Amino acid sequence: MRITVVGTGYVGLVVGVCLAETGNDVVCADVDAGKIGRLNAGEIPIYEPGLEPLVERNLREGRISFTTEVAPAVAGAEIVFIAVGTPPGEDGSADLQHVLAVADTIGRNMPDDGPEKIVITKSTVPVGTAAKVRAAIGRHTGRRVHVCSNPEFLKEGAAVLDFMKPDRVVVGVDSEYAREKLGELYSPFVRTGNPILFMDIASAEITKYAANAMLATRISFMNMIAGLCEAVGADVSHVRQGIGTDERIGPGFLFAGIGYGGSCFPKDVKALVHTLRESGVDASILDGVEKVNEAQKRLLLQRVVERYGEDLAGRTFAVWGLSFKPETDDMREAPSLTVVRGLVERGARVLAHDPEAEHEAQRYFADLLETRGLALFEHNYDCLEGADALLVLTEWAPYRNPDFARVQALLGEPVVFDGRNLWDPERMRDMGFEYVSVGRVALAAAEPGRSLAAAGA
Ligand SMILES: NC(=O)c1ccc[n+]([C@@H]2O[C@H](COP(=O)([O-])OP(=O)(O)OC[C@H]3O[C@@H](n4cnc5c(N)ncnc54)[C@H](O)[C@@H]3O)[C@@H](O)[C@H]2O)c1
Repeated sequence: MRITVVGTGYVGLVVGVCLAETGNDVVCADVDAGKIGRLNAGEIPIYEPGLEPLVERNLREGRISFTTEVAPAVAGAEIVFIAVGTPPGEDGSADLQHVLAVADTIGRNMPDDGPEKIVITKSTVPVGTAAKVRAAIGRHTGRRVHVCSNPEFLKEGAAVLDFMKPDRVVVGVDSEYAREKLGELYSPFVRTGNPILFMDIASAEITKYAANAMLATRISFMNMIAGLCEAVGADVSHVRQGIGTDERIGPGFLFAGIGYGGSCFPKDVKALVHTLRESGVDASILDGVEKVNEAQKRLLLQRVVERYGEDLAGRTFAVWGLSFKPETDDMREAPSLTVVRGLVERGARVLAHDPEAEHEAQRYFADLLETRGLALFEHNYDCLEGADALLVLTEWAPYRNPDFARVQALLGEPVVFDGRNLWDPERMRDMGFEYVSVGRVALAAAEPGRSLAAAGA
């Protein structure tokens, strides 16, 4: 099939290349000339495991191309995916300006003949958007267009695998033609029997928000329980196992920590709250989810202030992890934005490492880098030297099993604030660390003078 994907970001690029991999002719179009230039030079603008070889192969074999010329790209396609951003507007609602701009371009460039076109909203969009897309196209053409909703459930860090082997594909359609075409398009991805769930368009649009809001709710729920565990001296990791083994609950998304971030959960929860209010439906569950998450993002900062006072001038903190989760370079709404800024605003100097997000950090923290409140390091041990404490903000695999003797030798003081519960509190204490984590038994500070050697580490 001749497919154009408009928007070549985390979603559009993965969708485009995976559809090319199954034999389709794909054009990826984006208004960002820098991004398209890099892709045409064989460079991948984002970090996403497994993506690079797929792009290389499909470019080489001529099944995918990249362009900034959106108009001819949509004019020539049988199927157009709209995969542009839907950032939050000032009131929290999803800003549809990019989606509707693409719809307008599709309408203006509709050929007079040829097959009927299918236009698919892949972006996460509120219920009712398909009708707006149809209207925007219809302003310029009388030809029939099949507008469908096909929300994307891929996770950054596992995006290629998620798209290639989806748990399910959700497709909202209102024509038999679109249903058949999309069934054909997705059949290579569901060969093991996972379902393509066809439904009405409104239900498909809601499904995406319901999924993200449910996952965000589980995280905030566990963070609330973590607060209780801290208050009474219990351990949230035991509670997590205790409930996660109940098959009605299941083990996923039950880890306490310093809150959810990223480009999806925060904005999608906000947008769903907006839609609920607009529809006269009580949104108090999600109000609570957001409130807990905002507090959670400030938790480590609060712990640092409790330990050292509000004035952090003259102090240095090492930070491991800046991306909002492991295996991505994405820092949108990452807890690190709150924590690093909060430390620097209080006068501290921050020395940070992230395996993949360094270039994003340079963008997000340009001001802090300029004033030297923040410095970025290529190797995670290098940022520890002489620091008052280490803060762990992202659970990257290389941080999970560090050389603790080296960590202890490099740090000015053996103090660790672990926002992701990577290590066992007892073991950390035995090794001589003062160890603060989230929702786990409040342990006494390490005995002064106790060293790793004495702890037999
Ligand atoms: N990132 C995720 O994990 C994820 C997962 C599922 C769904 N989504 C949803 O998918 C959508 C895209 O997310 P993303 O993370 O890929 O965003 P992104 O910011 O990485 O990419 C969006 C791209 O669209 C381009 N663009 C904007 N306006 C354009 C226009 N008029 N014409 C052509 N290109 C245009 C931008 O230049 C950018 O490259 C959002 O609605 C998001 O909520 C994201």
